[in-house]
Amino acid sequence: AQQAERQRILDTLRLSRNQLLEVKERMNEEMARGLSKQTHEQASIKMLPTYVRSTPDGTEHGDFLALDLGGSSFRVLLVQVRSGTKSNVDMHHKIYSIPQETMQGTAEELFDHIVDCIADFLKYRDMRGVSLPLGFTFSFPCHQSKLDQGILLRWTKGFKLIILCCGYDIVYENIIENAHMEFDLNFVAVVNDTVGTMMTCSYEDPKCEVGLIVGTGTNACYMEEMHNIELVEGDSGLMCVNMEWGAFGEGGELDDFCTQFDRVVDACSSNPGKQRYEKMISGMYLGEIVRNVLLDFTAKGLLFRGKLSERLKTHGIFETKFLTQIEKDRLAMRQIRSILQHLGLTSSTCDDSVVVKEVCSVVARRAAQLCGAGLAAVIDKIRQNRNLNQLSITVGVDGTLYKTHPHFSSIMQETLQDLAPQCQVTFHKSEDGSGKGAALITAVACRIMTQDN
Ligand code: BG6
Ligand code: GLC
Repeated sequence: AQQAERQRILDTLRLSRNQLLEVKERMNEEMARGLSKQTHEQASIKMLPTYVRSTPDGTEHGDFLALDLGGSSFRVLLVQVRSGTKSNVDMHHKIYSIPQETMQGTAEELFDHIVDCIADFLKYRDMRGVSLPLGFTFSFPCHQSKLDQGILLRWTKGFKLIILCCGYDIVYENIIENAHMEFDLNFVAVVNDTVGTMMTCSYEDPKCEVGLIVGTGTNACYMEEMHNIELVEGDSGLMCVNMEWGAFGEGGELDDFCTQFDRVVDACSSNPGKQRYEKMISGMYLGEIVRNVLLDFTAKGLLFRGKLSERLKTHGIFETKFLTQIEKDRLAMRQIRSILQHLGLTSSTCDDSVVVKEVCSVVARRAAQLCGAGLAAVIDKIRQNRNLNQLSITVGVDGTLYKTHPHFSSIMQETLQDLAPQCQVTFHKSEDGSGKGAALITAVACRIMTQDN
């Protein structure tokens, strides 16, 4: 009876093929609404123009600085691009931590910290006084009307600064002004991490026209026909669109598929009501969904002999890395128990471990399927844009969840294949991070500027 009751609850987290097709369909509608001038304001996904229009042609060269902010680590990079052979890129980087208080402090503190890190990096590389072109991967939704501008629309992924600084140009009003005292910065490009990832991968594989992140947050970008991007003048060629698909569901598109657990995770987050799709898929939230299912099972006497531990009641205790470890097939039940003990669940039995593993697997499967359904909408749109019966394309991917979870990528790809059968999709895992892509975008922009002068 207990097993049946647990399955009844877990069934609410299982999606049928028809439901996934419905997610694909709704994503498709929202993409069209986000691109259209008339409906853009109300659309949940903003389909932001990025002003990135061409990929590197191999003739770019020079030294570039790049910043990478918004994933699980903040990096400052020196990227040296040599023309001719495409693999000739040298990278040096340093990782800096951003303390939790800074993520939730004032914008001034955050940007001061960033400027300090740049200064430290220049000193460390013995480059004080050097002014290099700089590309900034800033992984938050920004409105852009040119490549070197980024007007922040909102913070996501737990960044919640006291002074929002939304509506400000993050580059000019925060970084350049702060940095001026210490050194000259030559900002050329502000780039979303999806866009940086796509560029990093397309440098090696020109068929890469989609960028996907499944990490702390989730998002995608792709090359869209200019004539479909109504918010930008001009009809010819392509432009990369940063979808900001994490916000999908804010108009109720996912309400039919949300469970009580999703609603609790949303309500207890730093941005209730926002980023609903992201909260069902990405690393920052999956552990929380699992924890809430475990709490419910325990309260109903279906787990841990009905005994609630204090630690299990703690927000954020079930980190996504545990979810990834627990699902590793070869991990013996005994090891799962030791992870549970680490979580303060000292008296768990072998049966408890089996249940916990099943919860993790149901939650991760749903995330991967939802992500695959969204991707199916994107790839099929590209196919239809080009009037093709069959499309062969590459997706550049980054993000800790995608790279470390044992089953996420295969389930996502299975779903994609099932829902977009006319597309042959290759996945290219980015090993170099999106900072390299930001530097390449900067390099392309510098090449074009020199040609124009
Ligand atoms: C990194 C990229 O490799 O992946 C970042 O360089 C990106 O720009 C990040 O934000 C996403 O993954 P995570 O797991 O760090 O959020
Ligand atoms: C969040 C951000 C988005 C970013 C994604 C992945 O959804 O809003 O800009 O691309 O996380 O890091």
